[in-house]
Amino acid sequence: MKNDPAADSVPKPIYLKDYKAPPYKVPSISLHFDLHDEKTVVISKALYTPQGQQSDGLFLDGEASLVYIQIACKEVPYKKVKGGIFIEKGELPKGEFELEVKTLLNPEKNTSLSGLYKSSGSYCTQCEAEGFRNITYFQDRPDVMSRYETTIEADKKEYPVLLSNGNCLSRKDLPGGRHRAVWQDPWPKPCYLFALVAGDLSYRESIFVTASKREVTLRIYTKEHHLDKTGYAMESLRASMKWDEDRFGLEYDLDLFNIVAVDDFNFGAMENKSLNIFNSRLVLASKDTATDLDYHRIEGVVGHEYFHNWTGNRVTCRDWFQLSLKEGLTVFRDQEFSADMNSAATQRIEDVRVIRQAQFLEDGGPLAHPVRPEKVVRFDNIYTKTIYEKGAEVIRMLHTLLGEEGFRKGIDLYFKRHDGQAVTCDDFVCAMEDANNEDLGQFRLWYSQAGTPSVTVSSCYDAAKKTFSLTLCQHVPDTPDMKNKKPMVIPVKVGLLDENGLELSLDQRASKSAVLRLAEKEQVFVFENIEKAPVPSILRGFSAPVKLHFDQEDSELVFLLCHDSDLFNRYEAAQKLLLSRLKQYYVQGLPEMVDEGLVRAFSHICQDKNLDKAFVASAFSIPTEGNLIFHFDGFDPDKIHKIREFFKKSLAKSLQKELWQVVKENTLETEYSPDASSKARRSLLNTALYLLAHLKEESIKEHCLLRYKNANNMTEKFGALLALEVMGEDGVIEDFYEHYKSEPLVLLKLYRLIAGSSRGDTKKRILSYLERDNVDLKNPNTAYALIGGFAESCLVHLHAKDGSGYRFLGEMTKKLDNLNPHVSARVVQGFRDYAKLDKDRKVIMKEVLEDLLKSKISANAYEIVDKILQNPDS
Ligand code: BES
Ligand code: ZN
Repeated sequence: MKNDPAADSVPKPIYLKDYKAPPYKVPSISLHFDLHDEKTVVISKALYTPQGQQSDGLFLDGEASLVYIQIACKEVPYKKVKGGIFIEKGELPKGEFELEVKTLLNPEKNTSLSGLYKSSGSYCTQCEAEGFRNITYFQDRPDVMSRYETTIEADKKEYPVLLSNGNCLSRKDLPGGRHRAVWQDPWPKPCYLFALVAGDLSYRESIFVTASKREVTLRIYTKEHHLDKTGYAMESLRASMKWDEDRFGLEYDLDLFNIVAVDDFNFGAMENKSLNIFNSRLVLASKDTATDLDYHRIEGVVGHEYFHNWTGNRVTCRDWFQLSLKEGLTVFRDQEFSADMNSAATQRIEDVRVIRQAQFLEDGGPLAHPVRPEKVVRFDNIYTKTIYEKGAEVIRMLHTLLGEEGFRKGIDLYFKRHDGQAVTCDDFVCAMEDANNEDLGQFRLWYSQAGTPSVTVSSCYDAAKKTFSLTLCQHVPDTPDMKNKKPMVIPVKVGLLDENGLELSLDQRASKSAVLRLAEKEQVFVFENIEKAPVPSILRGFSAPVKLHFDQEDSELVFLLCHDSDLFNRYEAAQKLLLSRLKQYYVQGLPEMVDEGLVRAFSHICQDKNLDKAFVASAFSIPTEGNLIFHFDGFDPDKIHKIREFFKKSLAKSLQKELWQVVKENTLETEYSPDASSKARRSLLNTALYLLAHLKEESIKEHCLLRYKNANNMTEKFGALLALEVMGEDGVIEDFYEHYKSEPLVLLKLYRLIAGSSRGDTKKRILSYLERDNVDLKNPNTAYALIGGFAESCLVHLHAKDGSGYRFLGEMTKKLDNLNPHVSARVVQGFRDYAKLDKDRKVIMKEVLEDLLKSKISANAYEIVDKILQNPDS
C-alpha cells in the first residue's frame, strides 16, 4: 500500500484553488466485510446521484486490489489512472445508480497502518485522511457525506466482538464457526470517519445521562487484562461530555459511544463517529504504569476526540486544505477543557511551550505553511503544529477579540448554519462575523499568511501629562511560500503595575487588563491619568502567537516574576531571566556561579506558599537545547549543552537548601491520585530532585535510590530514575528495563530517556535496544520514542561534527519508510534545520538528504526532504 514516487518520477502537488465539487453525491453506502487475515473480501454498494453540472465522468480513489466494479450486476469498463480508476461518462447511467465494488485486502501485511490492518490480533481501521481508498474504490474526499451500513463477518471464537459506527442492528451466528454483525450509522458522514473493529476484546461500561435526560451507553474496549487500566479514560470521557454541554450547549447525538484501544496506531487517537480508536498509550493508565503526564494526556485526548463529534463530525471539512477548521477549533476546545479541569495558568504555559518549541520552529523553517495551506503533496503531511496549535491560537484570538459571549454567539450560528455540511475555514469566520456584526476581513490573514509575526514594543512615560504610551510595531517575516506580507490583526493583552505591585485600573470598569488591537504596521496606545511610571506587563496569557521584543531591565522582570497578577507573564519573566543569563554565558563565557539576583528571585518563588506548585515547577524549566540553539549566533550544540549543564548545577548549588525543603514538603505518604493538586505537587517534587541530581552528591544518589525502590507510583519512580540517570547510575536503567520488559507502554518512557541522552554512547544504546526481542520498530510508538526521540531531542549527537548522527537518522528513515511512510515522514523532520547549519555540517547533511531522495522513499517522506533541500535559505 506504500505509494512509490519513483514510479511516477516526482510527486506532484495539489492546489486549493483547483477545488471542484464532486460530480456525484453518495447519500448512502453499504459495506460488507468478510474478514480473513490474508484475504479479506469487501463489497461496497453505494448510491450515486449526479449533482451540479454533470462533468465528464467519475473518478474513484482506490489503492486496493480491485476484483470488479459493477452496475446492476454488469461489469463497468474503467481506466486505471494514478491513485484510482476513471469511468467515462458514456459508461454511466444518466441519473441515479448503484455502484457495486469488490476488493481484496491483506490486513495482515499492512504495516502502513492506514486502511484495514491488524494490531495485536484485532482488526481495525484508520481512514483519515485518505485511508478509505485502501479499503474500496470511492470518492475519498470529505465533502462526500453518506449514511453507512456495515456488515462484518468473522470467525466467532477469534473475533467475538464486531464493531462499526452507529447502532448495532443485528447479530447472527453463521455456519463454519463464523458470525455476523450489522451496524448502521444514522448520521451522514465523510468516509474518513468510517471505522471497523473486530477482536477478542472486553469492555468497561458506564451510563451517561445527557442534559436532556437521554441515556448514553459508554464503552471502552481493550484486551481483558487491561480493563483495570481504563478507569481514568472513562472518567475523562464523562467529564468531557458534561463540559461540552455546560460550556457550548452541545450534547451527544447517539445512544452508544465506543472507544477501542489498539497497540499499533500512527497517531494519538481518531474520532470515528461513535467508534473512537485510540493508541493504547492514551487510554490505559494505572498508578504503577502511567505518569501524571500520561494521565493528563489521556484526559486531554479523550476530550479532544469526543469534542470532534460536533467540531469535525457534525460539521466537517470541505477539503483537506481546511483541516484546521476541525483540528484548530478542537484543539482550542480541548485546551479550554484541560484548563477548566486543572490549573488554567499552567495549562496555558504548557500549550505555549509547544507553540514556541515546535510551531515557531516549523513556521521559521523549510516546512512553514499557512494555517490554511494552498498547496500540498501528501495530505498525510499536513497534520502539523501549524494546523493544530497555531490553528488553535487563531481561534483563541477570535475568542479574545469577541469575548466569551460573542464567541459563543458565533459558534451557535456556525452550527445553526452548517450542521450536516462540509465547510471551509472562511465559513467559520463568516459565522463569527455575522453573529457579532464585526468585520474580520483583515483577521483572515491569519489563515493565509505563514510565518511568526514579531511585535516590538517600546514604552514612554510623560510625567507632565501623566500619560503612559506603548508603541507597538509588527513585522510578518517572509516564508518559502510568500514574501512582503501585510500587517495582521494582533490582540495584545496588557496590564500596568504600580510600584507596590498592584494593578492599575485601565478603564471605567476598573479592568486590570486591556486588549490592544494592533492592526497597522505601527501604532501608539496611550493610557491616561497614570500618576507614576508603571511596570507594564505585555502579551498577557500569550494573547497572540507572536515573538515579542520588549527590552525590560532585570529588575523589572524580577518585579513581574514576584507580582504580576497574570501567572503566565510571571512565568515569562522567569523564562526571560533564564534566557538572558544563558545568552550572557554564551557570549562572555561561564562565570564562577550563577549571580545572586537570579538566585534570590528563584528562591523567592520556591518559598511562596501562595503559588500553584505546577506553576513553580514550570518557572524552573530551563529552556531546552533545541530552543536555545537558534537564539544565539553561530551553531554550537556542544557549547549550548555545556552552558545548560553548568547552569543547572550552579543553580542547584545556590538553592540547595530551598530545593531540599521542597523535596521534604512535597513528599507525602498518601494514596496516589491524579487530581490537579497532587499532580502539581509531584511535578514540583520531581523538578527539585532533577536539579539536585546535577550536584552529583552521594547523599542525593542514596536518596533517589531509596525513592526509586519505594515509590508507590510511576510518576515518582520515574522522577527518581531521571535523577539517577543524570548521576550516571546505569544499573538502575537496566533494573527498570528488566522489571518492565513486558510492559511496552512503560518501556516507551525509557526509550525516550535513552534516545535523548547526551551520553557518548547514545546511538549504540539505541541500536542495542533495537536488537532486543521485545522491541518492535513496526510499532509506531516504539519508532517515535527511540528514533523520533533521537531526532527531536538529542541535539549534541544528531549534530555530531563527523556526521554520524545524520547518517544514523538517514539509515533509520529508510528502514522505517519501508514499513510505514507516516512514521518516516515524521522522523525525517529531524533534518529540518539544514539551512541553519554551518558549512561543514551542511555538506554532510546534504549528502544524506540527497541519498534519501534517490532511495525510492515514499511520497510522504519525499515531500519533506524535498522541501528541506529546496528552502531558499539553503
Ligand atoms: N483526527 C485526528 C487523528 C489523525 C491525525 C488522523 C493525523 C489522521 C492523521 C485526531 O483528532 C487528532 O487530532 N489526534 C491527535 C491528538 C489530539 C489530542 C491533538 C493525535 O493523534 O496526535
Ligand atoms: Zn483532532
